[in-house]
Amino acid sequence: MNTVPNSATDILRSLDSRRSIPARQLDAPGPDAATLARMLRAAVRVPDHGRRVPFRFLRIAGPARACLGEALTAIARHRDPDASQAVLDKDRERFNHAPLVIAVIAVLDASDDKIPAQERLLSAGCVCFALLQAAQGHGFGAQWLTGWPAYDRQVHALLGVGEEERVAGFIHIGTPRADAPERERPDPLALLSDWSPA
Ligand SMILES: Cc1cc2nc3c(=O)[nH]c(=O)nc-3n(C[C@H](O)[C@H](O)[C@H](O)COP(=O)(O)O)c2cc1C
Repeated sequence: MNTVPNSATDILRSLDSRRSIPARQLDAPGPDAATLARMLRAAVRVPDHGRRVPFRFLRIAGPARACLGEALTAIARHRDPDASQAVLDKDRERFNHAPLVIAVIAVLDASDDKIPAQERLLSAGCVCFALLQAAQGHGFGAQWLTGWPAYDRQVHALLGVGEEERVAGFIHIGTPRADAPERERPDPLALLSDWSPA
């Protein structure tokens, strides 16, 4: 059996300390190419029924962020011609805060009738979570965001997201400007019940 280098304590400490840093509080620098590659290596290590690899990554960085913001603003204006300036400004800046955004794309092959689509989507969600953990493990802050752009067909076309794909999440990654306050977490034991036969 392989020995695991991290002690159980290290792993639990990492899981227990995870928290999001709001994207608007994430500045440069972001991870360099080698660090990103290392983070993605951790992120793809997810449970994957049938080994379908039902996910891929899209990097949105540098000037592409502002270009995407401009395109989003145009789509937002088209969706709602009465949209306020504040709403449009928010869309323009959406991808402009953190230096790096990784879109995790769920790749859902509709002809796959062996592995339920839900399970493939769940694997892509696990990738998002693992990427958050990997970013924090490298000392970066990160936040998993969706918002309307994750579900809009025009945005999908702009990003090259296919008919049988979904945006599982936009993972914004950067250097935290400030530590985010901890929020109250659910009481896990209040969520636990025992099943017993009737
Ligand atoms: C699928 C998914 C989509 C999310 N989309 C948004 C979003 O669009 N806007 C937002 O403010 N938070 C969103 N969140 C919540 C944040 O990622 C984050 O959980 C929240 O800021 C609380 O921080 P925490 O992760 O430390 O609990 C989303 C979470 C998930 C799982």
